[in-house]
Formats: sequence, structure tokens, C-alpha cells
Amino acid sequence: MKHFLSVQSCQPKDLVQQALQLKAQPWAYESLGKRKTLGLLFLNPSLRTRLSTQKAAAQLGLNTMVMNLSQDGWNLELGNGMVMDQGASEHVKEAAQVMGQYCDIVGIRCFPGLQDASEDYRDELIGQFIEYSGRPVISLESCTRHPLQSLADMMTIEECRGTNPKPKVVLSWAPHAKPLPQAVANSFVEWATAFDCDLTITHPKGYELAGEFSSLAPVCYNQDQAFENADFIYCKNWSSYTSYGKIIGNHRDWMITLDKMKRTNQAKFMHCLPIRRNLVAADDVLDSNQSVVIQQAHNRIFAAQAVLKNILETQQ
Ligand code: CP
Repeated sequence: MKHFLSVQSCQPKDLVQQALQLKAQPWAYESLGKRKTLGLLFLNPSLRTRLSTQKAAAQLGLNTMVMNLSQDGWNLELGNGMVMDQGASEHVKEAAQVMGQYCDIVGIRCFPGLQDASEDYRDELIGQFIEYSGRPVISLESCTRHPLQSLADMMTIEECRGTNPKPKVVLSWAPHAKPLPQAVANSFVEWATAFDCDLTITHPKGYELAGEFSSLAPVCYNQDQAFENADFIYCKNWSSYTSYGKIIGNHRDWMITLDKMKRTNQAKFMHCLPIRRNLVAADDVLDSNQSVVIQQAHNRIFAAQAVLKNILETQQ
């Protein structure tokens, strides 16, 4: 594996199996990363991604450097040929090359601005780090995708599906107080369709994902209907793509409740976290034994570890 940016960076079914094996034997490769350094750059907040990737690195013997770039670093310029007389103090060309000297692998989290779809969907910062750092780059959630989350999600579905050869998986939009990126939903659709899942997307009209993702699965605008006989409910809020970055209407009635979960085939409830209780999903859903959100978060360690292991093995 060279970089890890989307489902297309890997053989997803093999990677899930490797991650499950690492979960069973987390220290089996404890010297693989000896004398190598992982640099993690965060332009946005994180609990799970930051800590699970650090833990994964430790279990491979990798040294880790973490930086909250938006708070502690210089403002980066991405444009070519710019006269840098405004806010940015450093060009990504230098910053990425310097990181390439300090690190063997670079991870970056960079959320979208949610102002300009074409700008966000170019995912320019990650692209420039790939170009100028000369190092393998891992997406810690880009403007468009969150592949480490999706890998952990697929591990969780694999652990919970039992002998069901084609579980019904529903990606359900849910309300939120703030406009959020589409990255988790985009990524989940790509990964779920690469597995043997019967995937349906449900959301209010106006929340269609970008065509390259929405075209991968049927959309049902009736949440109750979509939930019928579902084996997994994957809940997530995202802002509108068509009215880019906007919240359209409040749709509080799309919150996931136990009554809605009763329509399902005793479905497992999934969410990437963090989650706003009693806005996105009700307390009694999150506190029920149908919820596997903590299992998902645990699997983030082994998802990151599988990706790092593959990159380290490619470097050898
Ligand atoms: N799910 C997830 O990526 O969590 P953090 O934003 O806390 O890293």
C-alpha cells in the first residue's frame, strides 16, 4: 500500500481480515515500525482518530509526532504563484517537504470549508502533501472521505453479521445543530458497496450525496420504510451537497428512536461518534444492547494498525 485515501487504496476485504487478526494479536508486529516515525497533522478536532492511530502506531513500534496544525502551526498557502501578503505564512510546498524529512509516514485530517463544493471535493491539501512530502499519506478524514472510519465500520459489520450472507444495511441521515461534512457518509457508501451488503440510503429530499456516491446505492426518502427488516442502521448527519454546506429544514423527526429501531430486524445501531444525544439518536437507542458504537470506536485502533502495517511492509 502506498497511500490510504479511500477504498480504492486497498483490497478492502483483505484489509478487514488483517485488521481482525491484529485485534486478536495486537503485538504480533511490535518491531515492524522500529526507528520509523509517523507524523499526524490535525487541522480539526479529534478524539478517536488521534488516539486510536497513536495506539496503533505504538503497537507496531512506531514513534509518533502529533501536531494540531491549525492551532500550533503556520497558516498554509496552497495556491501556486501566490503573492503571500495575506494570512498564510508558509507554503504547503515547504511544509510538506519538511514533514517528509522528519517522518516516514504522514497522516492528515482536513475538513472541508463547506463554502465551495468544487474546491472541497478537490481535496487539495492531501494531494499537495502526497506531491511534496514524498512519503506515504494516510487520510485521517479528508474533505470527501473518512476511510479509517469506514474500515473500522466494515470490521464491526463483519463481527456482527454472523452467518447472514447479505445483511440489509441502511445509511440514515439524522438531524444535527451544525452543518457537517459529507465525508463519513460518502466513504461508508463506497466501502459498504465493496462488501456483500444490501445497502439503502435514506434522507430527506435535498440531502442527496454527490453523484459518485449516491449512484452506488438506492435512495429511499421514507425513513420508516427504509428501516423495515434492516440488520444494521448506520446513522450520520451530513449537510446538503446540492445546496452546498447548508442545513435545509430542521427534520427533527429523523432522529433515531427505539420505536424506529423496532421496525428493523433487531438491527445493530452504528455511528462513528461523536454523537449528540437526543438530537441525532435517543438515549435509549445509544444505551441499548443494539448499539455497537463503542465496538466501532475500539475497532478504529486495529483499522489504523492494519493500514500502518501495510504501508510499513511496502516500505521494507
Ligand atoms: N469518528 C471520528 O473520526 O472521531 P474523531 O473525530 O473524534 O476522531
